[in-house]
Amino acid sequence: MTRQASYSSGYRDADETDVVSLTWDGHPPEWLEGSLFRNGPGRYDRGRVEVSHWFDGLAMLHGFHLSPKGVQYHSRFVRSHDFRVSEQEGTIASPGFACDPCRSIFRKVASAFLVDATDNPNVSLVKQGDRFLALTELPIPMMFDPETLRSRGPVVYNDSLPPGSTTAHPHQDGKALYNQVLHYSGLTSYRLYTQENLKERQEFARIKVKEASYVHSFGLSEDYVILTCCPFQVAPLKLLVRNKPFIHNFEWKPRHGTRFHLAPRPGKKAKQLTLNTEPFFCFHHVNSFQQNGKLYVDLICYPDADIIHQLSLERLRNDRAIDFGKLRRYEIDPQEETIKRLWESAHCIELTRFHYTRCNTRPYRFLYGVSADENESVFYDRIKKLDVSNDSALTWYQPGNFPGEPIFVARPGSTEEDDGVLLSVVLNGEKETSFLLVLNAHDLREIARVNLPVAVPHGFHGLFHREFKDTE
Ligand code: CO
Repeated sequence: MTRQASYSSGYRDADETDVVSLTWDGHPPEWLEGSLFRNGPGRYDRGRVEVSHWFDGLAMLHGFHLSPKGVQYHSRFVRSHDFRVSEQEGTIASPGFACDPCRSIFRKVASAFLVDATDNPNVSLVKQGDRFLALTELPIPMMFDPETLRSRGPVVYNDSLPPGSTTAHPHQDGKALYNQVLHYSGLTSYRLYTQENLKERQEFARIKVKEASYVHSFGLSEDYVILTCCPFQVAPLKLLVRNKPFIHNFEWKPRHGTRFHLAPRPGKKAKQLTLNTEPFFCFHHVNSFQQNGKLYVDLICYPDADIIHQLSLERLRNDRAIDFGKLRRYEIDPQEETIKRLWESAHCIELTRFHYTRCNTRPYRFLYGVSADENESVFYDRIKKLDVSNDSALTWYQPGNFPGEPIFVARPGSTEEDDGVLLSVVLNGEKETSFLLVLNAHDLREIARVNLPVAVPHGFHGLFHREFKDTE
């Protein structure tokens, strides 16, 4: 039995780090200039209250400004309303994902979660126009300055979409950003929208449901938005009257199966339809594309929603083992209105990235993600490159290290899908510090790394932006 290194030092409360200049160990490619931004929870202790789930830590942004000379690293908490209340009053401002609200939410009209919910944007990052945004599952993105990481205030929409929950995984296709708002009411519906400027969203389809599913992401193909509703559900009225943290209202209802809702994108002649299949749970869609009249939908699947319980802070801080996701492909025939599971990968994978600008909504071959040995690992402890054409994989693995989402950066002028590098922030479980790792995306060989003076808390998603301003 191999000794399992501890991953739990990535779940301690972190402090902000002022800009530090660090040197490369190895030789990154000359073209690798720009900024990597990461988002994720950075603090769980809120004074008198300690939140209980990974997803409820206060948002912390990490900036890595890369040049051939070296890397400048810094980190900063997002100055959300939640952050200020935590700092000033030593408590939580609003019910988050799984933390107990410390005041009654009954008195709020509709649901406190929806109207007066957490604005702690700790999940992902997106660049919209020239704005950098930190996102969570509430439609209150926080703008931030890419050079200083300082918060620039929330986005206030000037449109008629109702309040609700959203996803922190909008799709981008050309100028348009796609996302949805789940509006809970007696007539609960997912409102699909596109957005071409920061403040206005245009609804183009509505999917009505009796029970709302927890939806973390969705798929986009040439003609469709694919909204996958796993049977982890809540009857909307229960959400309105129960005084429970958001996610504790949801129940696993496998008898309902999983519903794939297909809605045509604006200007497409396809029809809206719903297909039912086996129950599974999923956070992340990967890619979707159409070929020879069929629609292929790739997602990272779990047998049920127990993974949410497994990601509680109490378990993670005690190095407990978690379940690992697997890539699964569904084949949909929109004409025949049929769906079937085409295959499931033999490899565990999560927090995946691919060559998005080239392959989003199109057939693709390579997928990169954090991975694990199903039998030996307790946490994601390696990086894999999956060839989805034959389910073969390459692995980067150094025992005792715990990598985060590997972001693919294409070489400028590249023609091959995997010509570029992967950037991943890795926690060294023994040293209890992190490093930024640069791998060759073609063969997963290490090209360079930069050791950081701190442990970067385990986070979720990030963004690479090519423009680099050397402040020296
Ligand atoms: Co996510």
